[in-house]
Amino acid sequence: MNKMEIKKVDLFYGDFHALKNISMDIQEKEITAFIGPSGCGKSTMLKSLNRMNDLIPNCKITGDILLDGKDIYDPKYDINTLRKRVGMVFQNPNPFPISIYDNVAYGPRTHGIKNKAQLDEIVEKSLRGAAIWDEVKDKLKQNATEVSGGQQQRICIARALAVEPEVLLMDEPTSALDPISTLKIEELVQDLKNEYTIIIVTHNMQQATRVSDKTGFFLNGEVIEFGETDKIFSVPQDKRTEDYITGRFG
Ligand SMILES: Nc1ncnc2c1ncn2[C@@H]1O[C@H](COP(=O)(O)OP(=O)(O)O)[C@@H](O)[C@H]1O
Ligand SMILES: [Mg+2]
Repeated sequence: MNKMEIKKVDLFYGDFHALKNISMDIQEKEITAFIGPSGCGKSTMLKSLNRMNDLIPNCKITGDILLDGKDIYDPKYDINTLRKRVGMVFQNPNPFPISIYDNVAYGPRTHGIKNKAQLDEIVEKSLRGAAIWDEVKDKLKQNATEVSGGQQQRICIARALAVEPEVLLMDEPTSALDPISTLKIEELVQDLKNEYTIIIVTHNMQQATRVSDKTGFFLNGEVIEFGETDKIFSVPQDKRTEDYITGRFG
């Protein structure tokens, strides 16, 4: 089943044509990877999926992006609902400079949950979901910025999970992490696939092959090739995809 559908999307930053006629179907409970050299539009595409680019002046998007068949750019679509349903994790771990507990409780609180027992339960469940509960359960009051980078990133994942999203967007979530933390996040991403639809931008092609079901190769604002990860990496159909995955550029 298609969780999200990207249909003939063009995006401009002022005069600059950053996304060119992109169409892709994002399958429910699969992991989709976006790969490609830097500056080719991967983050732009990802941010379009929960309208993060609404805040950028001069940013204009045409075409349709559907979530469960509904156009998220419809003026009647509620942006708060969208951001709750489509969560995001960024490249650099960015916990708020408050306690681990308060980081994870932040989203639920803004959605009106005040009951302590209920918040406790959500915080534990989210930290467990992000595979970091055992490491932080005895220091929930500690400032989230004081733990290691890998732990901070998993706290950010817990923060995203706490509002029970359906889709999780991850923009190079391991690029600032050491190899061990990277592997932990990759394992976590595989576990999360049972419950969530995940789209992950990665610079690391091994990571794309390790974690994803589908891969889209971006180049200069276009999607050159999109399909099963195994096929993209073993029998790329386009010469440019082949050149990129064999390390000839990028
Ligand atoms: N806010 C912005 N204003 C103008 N140009 C932007 C903005 N954000 C990104 N771009 C440009 O759009 C292109 C795609 O950027 P981006 O989506 O960040 O690429 P990637 O994530 O693949 O590295 C780049 O040329 C970048 O400079
Ligand atoms: Mg990027």
